[in-house]
Amino acid sequence: MPAVRLAPSILSADLGRLADDIARVEAGGADVIHVDVMDGRYVPNLTFGAAVVATARKATHLPVDVHLMVVDPEQYLEPFAAAGASIFTFHPDATRHVQRHLAAARELGMRAGLALNPADPLTLVAEVLDDLDLLLLMTVNPGFGGQHYIPASTDKIRRARALLDRHGSGIWLEVDGGITVETIAGASRAGADTFVAGSAVFGTPDPAAALRELRRRCAVEV
Ligand code: DX5
Ligand code: ZN
Repeated sequence: MPAVRLAPSILSADLGRLADDIARVEAGGADVIHVDVMDGRYVPNLTFGAAVVATARKATHLPVDVHLMVVDPEQYLEPFAAAGASIFTFHPDATRHVQRHLAAARELGMRAGLALNPADPLTLVAEVLDDLDLLLLMTVNPGFGGQHYIPASTDKIRRARALLDRHGSGIWLEVDGGITVETIAGASRAGADTFVAGSAVFGTPDPAAALRELRRRCAVEV
């Protein structure tokens, strides 16, 4: 079974006490802190910029996993690197010259990620595997927390796992959207190794207990 990494999304945190919420999930066993950047154009919602990335960076020792749901994500390569982003993940249909921007993310000391929406084919990813550190499969349509996992995602995760295994790389396979104690086992069995969870962690009274239960569900063989 692949490694299991849990990535709480601060989209569902209490922003009035963001640093405390991040410290709480770090102490509770999170592996990565996921920061959802939305520009109101690529998706119909508006969230965070470099200042929040810097706040997350200061609040934790964990990798800060920045997911850009923005048009022309390359404009944020330098500011987010300077703010301390560890992973820079963008949507390929939000820009031109995807390979160039993946390479630039690495040159700036970040890991490079691509995010695919539910309707996006996997084929493009096969062309840039050498430039990739993380593949994020959206398991909802991006824009909002608290949506339902799209069941067809499971087969796509399986196909993505096969593609990454054929390449023989250590590329992380991350899933994002609707990941809960009910859905995480299926995504895990299909081959995902990194699990974003917003409402399933911060929307509960005890985020540490939620993280423990999410991890336990990944380990259950069915
Ligand atoms: C959605 C974001 C997700 C979001 C997930 O567009 O990319 O990271 O925070 O939220 P949940 O886990 O509540 O579906
Ligand atoms: Zn996300």
